[in-house]
Amino acid sequence: MNYISILKIQKIKNILKLKNKIIKLYGWIKNKRYSKIGIYFIDIKDGSSINSIQIILIKKNIKNYNKKIINLKNGSSLIIWGKIKINKKNKKKEIYATNIKIIGKINNSKLYPISPKYHSLEYLRKYSHLRIRTYLIESISRIRNTLIFNIHKYLQKHNFYWIPTPIITSLDTEGNSKMFQIINNNNKYFFNKKAFLTVSGQLNLETYACSLSKVYNLGPIFRAENSNTNKHLAEFWMLEVELVLANINKIIQLSTNMLSFCFKKILKYNNDDINFILKYTKKKNINYINNIIKKKFIKIQYNDVIKILKKNSYLFKNKIKWGIDISSEHEKYLTKKYFNSAIIIQNYPKIIKPFYMKNNNDNITVSSIDIILPKVGEIIGGSEREENINILDKNIKEKKLNKKKYWWYRDLRKYGTIKHSGFGLGIERLLMYITNMKNIRDVIPYPRYPKYLNF
Ligand code: 4AD
Ligand code: MG
Repeated sequence: MNYISILKIQKIKNILKLKNKIIKLYGWIKNKRYSKIGIYFIDIKDGSSINSIQIILIKKNIKNYNKKIINLKNGSSLIIWGKIKINKKNKKKEIYATNIKIIGKINNSKLYPISPKYHSLEYLRKYSHLRIRTYLIESISRIRNTLIFNIHKYLQKHNFYWIPTPIITSLDTEGNSKMFQIINNNNKYFFNKKAFLTVSGQLNLETYACSLSKVYNLGPIFRAENSNTNKHLAEFWMLEVELVLANINKIIQLSTNMLSFCFKKILKYNNDDINFILKYTKKKNINYINNIIKKKFIKIQYNDVIKILKKNSYLFKNKIKWGIDISSEHEKYLTKKYFNSAIIIQNYPKIIKPFYMKNNNDNITVSSIDIILPKVGEIIGGSEREENINILDKNIKEKKLNKKKYWWYRDLRKYGTIKHSGFGLGIERLLMYITNMKNIRDVIPYPRYPKYLNF
């Protein structure tokens, strides 16, 4: 037993690459079969890969053979010692077990919510603490990890500094947001003023850009809109990037290059996960991913979008006129029907965008973009920032915001102001696109939305 107990535990992902060797692994039973000739086959998974590994249990080979082993249910956890062999038929690696230790049994398998049969996504949401044990949610989680890691990697490679902007704030970055107010459990104002969970770290991020030059944040964002749609969460993750001396074209270039980089990495490191997802969602190919890698985005002016929508106004619920926001139904029409492509809409009307966006010369539009992907809609919003204190103050006044509250933000324009631009990317919306999920609640571990705060 001694030589066995000092063996290091191996991850299934690595075992799949190892040659003939005695190894130790652990995992959860995914599947079990019994053959007539008295051999048990157990598929084990440990989260390191979408692939399981087959364990072969032959009574005479196993030192501590015990009937309990064969009665184990799917979902039980084990440690296994054994020899790797290659299955002659399918060329897959298998483990011939020599020792087994049961860690955690499933006592009443009828009550275990994750049985091997098909479960709907709605059903799985009710068991968010256990749904990670399904192939689908596991794959989505690994893809999210690759995405976040490579966002950091891309930005670090391009000399951006990561800044942890605050989550508790007294300011509304966007100017008209529905926010979550926070109080302590005595119902008192802990900070002696109203405090909220942030809707965007942008304003704080800009202060750091005005010294470090290239910065980003990546963290949770909270919005209290009463939106019960398939693409709104009350808590979601946002990447925000801010850099000096950049105009809006630089923002388009940077954000689309970053997306292309991350998508390539996901295809490389999550090939098995993507293949599983394609099968699950009955998607025929990965063109939708390759289009982003190849940076196929159609650029269009807001003014021209309105002209296109007007021509087809009978298709839409609300009247199309200059000054309206682009809603979901418009996004769908533009990306699926009209262009059949991802689009970048530029130069929105000032009246529907936040006070910090830079005025264009026409004085009625701002230098802004929204990047809109087929199926999921807006994933990125960005703009040049107004660096002129007089125009900024005018915007604050026009939007009826309290100038005093923004005193420190205004200071940036008083002390060494500089041209700068930035954007915000909704991580879960992007994950919806990559994983083909129709509902944003399935791409975040624990969704929060109106009237729902479980787990
Ligand atoms: O367009 P938004 O509101 O932009 C900002 O907050 C800017 N301050 C960003 C910046 O320039 N630094 O939000 C950015 C992105 C949206 O495009 C969308 O992808 C996502 O965040 N988003 C949401 N995702 C999930 N649930 C919600 N309720 C979301 N609201 C916005
Ligand atoms: Mg937006």
